[in-house]
Amino acid sequence: MQSLPGFRDFLPNDCAARNYIFNQWRTTARRYGFVEWDGPVLEPTELYRKKSGDEIVGQLFNFVDKGEREVSLRPELTPTLARVIAAHERGFKKPLKWFSIGQFFRYEKQQRGRLREHFQLNCDIVGESDFAADVELIALCIDTLRAFGLTEKDFVVRISDREFWTDFLRQQKLPDERWEEILQAIDKSEREPRDKTVERLGKLADPVLAILTDGGRSGKIDQLVDGLGARGLAGFVDVDVRIVRGLAYYTGTVFEVFDRAGKFRAIAGGGRYDNLIAQLSDGAVSMPALGFAMGDVVLGELLQERPAAREKMETAIRTGNTVDIYIVVAKEECRADALAHVQALRERGYRVDYPLGPEKVGRQFQAAEAAGASIALLYGDEWPQVKVKKLATREEILVPGDKILSQVDSLLK
Ligand code: HAM
Repeated sequence: MQSLPGFRDFLPNDCAARNYIFNQWRTTARRYGFVEWDGPVLEPTELYRKKSGDEIVGQLFNFVDKGEREVSLRPELTPTLARVIAAHERGFKKPLKWFSIGQFFRYEKQQRGRLREHFQLNCDIVGESDFAADVELIALCIDTLRAFGLTEKDFVVRISDREFWTDFLRQQKLPDERWEEILQAIDKSEREPRDKTVERLGKLADPVLAILTDGGRSGKIDQLVDGLGARGLAGFVDVDVRIVRGLAYYTGTVFEVFDRAGKFRAIAGGGRYDNLIAQLSDGAVSMPALGFAMGDVVLGELLQERPAAREKMETAIRTGNTVDIYIVVAKEECRADALAHVQALRERGYRVDYPLGPEKVGRQFQAAEAAGASIALLYGDEWPQVKVKKLATREEILVPGDKILSQVDSLLK
């Protein structure tokens, strides 16, 4: 039996890499004063039909449950967040700064950087329309990537403003109901052959392609870049009107993060969605909001590719699954005393491993090395003394058994 296409097994080293990514995500979000939350992985399909847009609805893992409900595994978090905010906003002071780390599911064509499940860090600010929130959010996105040892040579945040395009479509007198279709064509224009884009854009092909070629300016984005410049982060951003985002609910600032060389799919994406909460609550709660999500798949590929970032990740993987102490039971008569120490050391918070059954001493030392232990404690002929071996230097000393617990800290140094 094999796993389903687009689904991953996480063997111990993969899990250590995943934990490393989650730790950096969590640490940076907390540094920015964001608090963690989560929602359910299964939601009513209607939640996504209402607002995510056709592309994501076409990729839903959806089914009818035993209670005849139409349900979907979550493809993204933003609609859930909007639903939760609409239901609970009175309980919280605004603006809210919330982050979440979870797994998402999209029935996409499996390809490099795109699977059918992936993990995302979502960071959202709710209840703040001021530009300062846009700067804060993008700064967080940049600093999250910097925490992995990535620099402005490795990635770029491409920023745009959907209003730039909606103003243009208004000037072109395009009926509102066709806006989404044109925005999607612009979003896909970099990935699709030109004739396909021209066909999708129809009568607007010439003016849109002219803007895409020459670039366009928006005073709002310039302000945003200035705000990031004041934090010393201007080198990480490019203004790029080709970014409009594939999801339907964005209303203002939009951005996507790519590797500088343009080799991979987007690492992260987000923007303002000032109307979504009102739309999902039928106008009961209206609140500006903005956020981004960063996926683990493309990020992992980029970390593997950039030497400094890879080194940092590999160190974390190496240390992620190690133990501090390995207990070598050299004589079975000593097992009970050894086990008493295993228990006492674990209770004090050390990571400790030992052989579950009789095992040759040489093999036990191999196991200690493989587990990455700093010291091995040997219980054998020397008991009631314990032979302590520092595995890095091979240095050995004898310590009275009843002094092990009080001396273990200095032995580990
Ligand atoms: P998104 O651009 O659809 O945005 O996804 C965000 C990131 O998740 C992408 O840049 C990519 O790294 C990763 N991702 C998406 N789909 C896949 C996939 N099939 N396989 C691997 N990685 C994937 C959103 O989801 C918005 N809800 C973000 C947001 C939060 N906007 C406001 N708040």
